[in-house]
Amino acid sequence: MGKTLNLIPVTPLDYRRLAEARLPRFLFDYIDGGANDERTLASNVDDFARVLIKQQVLRNVDNLDTSTEIAGKPASMPVVLAPVGMAGLFGRRGEVQGVRAANAAGVPFTLSTVGICPLDEIRSASSVPFWFQLYMIRDREVIRDLLQRAMANGCDTLVFTVDLPMPGMRHRDVRNGMLDTGLRGKLGKVWQLGTRPGWVWDVGVKGKPHSFGNLAHVVPDPTDLAVFSQWINRQFDTSVTWKDIEWLRGIWKGKLLIKGILQTGDARDALAVGADGLIVSNHGGRQLDSVASSISKLPAIAEAVGGQMEILMDGGVRSGVDVFKAIALGASAVMIGRPWVWAMAGAGEQGVRDLLAVFKRELEIAMALSGVTRIADISRDNIDSTPW
Ligand SMILES: Cc1cc2nc3c(=O)[nH]c(=O)nc-3n(C[C@H](O)[C@H](O)[C@H](O)COP(=O)(O)O)c2cc1C
Repeated sequence: MGKTLNLIPVTPLDYRRLAEARLPRFLFDYIDGGANDERTLASNVDDFARVLIKQQVLRNVDNLDTSTEIAGKPASMPVVLAPVGMAGLFGRRGEVQGVRAANAAGVPFTLSTVGICPLDEIRSASSVPFWFQLYMIRDREVIRDLLQRAMANGCDTLVFTVDLPMPGMRHRDVRNGMLDTGLRGKLGKVWQLGTRPGWVWDVGVKGKPHSFGNLAHVVPDPTDLAVFSQWINRQFDTSVTWKDIEWLRGIWKGKLLIKGILQTGDARDALAVGADGLIVSNHGGRQLDSVASSISKLPAIAEAVGGQMEILMDGGVRSGVDVFKAIALGASAVMIGRPWVWAMAGAGEQGVRDLLAVFKRELEIAMALSGVTRIADISRDNIDSTPW
């Protein structure tokens, strides 16, 4: 513990250690874990490590520039903070801390459907439009209402997540009693909370309310996680098809990005229904274990539809060097999930700012040593080899 507290964090894994020291076990594991045996979770990270970059020297990299456009808006680098549910439990008003850090770094922030902070709280905290993420809910009036509120609060980009018709099987959450309403689950959580008095005071007491801000008016008891998960199981719509996305496209006037695409066929369907872009993603390895890593699926999807729509990817991005690899393999930008949440949980808004500054520096170095000075100039030619 002493060593952890003395650590000056640099990488996402450093922040992960800080987060582990601050969070009750069930919350730390909720962030950290993935579905089943966590194979996809591991391969998201491992496959990035196996992509090799070409070092190319003496090409005058004096005027290096990481800035780019994402969903039609300028950004300081091709990175977006991914939607993460319940971020307001990992740090006090966690989504507010996230959006402020994203603003300062000049990158977009995405608010989850199941964020703790509601849309208007994020709007007040943010100096620029932010992105909103939505899951398909059976009651289409709830969807219409959420979309209207998102528009009214200045959201210009909708991230529609399609890889969660039902929540994945995350064994750590079951073991930790995360969603257990019974006595055993309750006692287990009280015990875990008892080991983290700092979190109890800083987030548990001073970070209230802990309701699901955007859904507080429709979920029976939004502060009770078990009740909420039952509501999700009833309300998350397993009957969704591309027809529903067409419907959505008709009522959402801003940019529409479909999140959770892994196959070229699905990518073509996303294009056909009029989406502006897609996010190659397996939900950070939290849904179906044993699907391929996102980075290994990116090149084929980029080749199939890349010229016609915007291609983002997420899953396993842990440095600016990884950002470079994803851009070289066909993405126009990446999303990061766990890295920003670990930084926020472990070191607050400043932690997220510092982490994003490290990503930018690493991206600059990767560009300089590859001999490119513009994001648009990064290409497949900068890749030495991939394992697939
Ligand atoms: C704790 C946690 C909660 C998440 N909640 C959501 C969510 O509410 N909506 C969503 O579309 N994706 C959600 N995701 C997935 C992320 O948006 C993203 O796809 C994933 O974290 C990327 O992988 P990475 O964590 O390796 O960066 C969540 C991920 C984590 C770790």
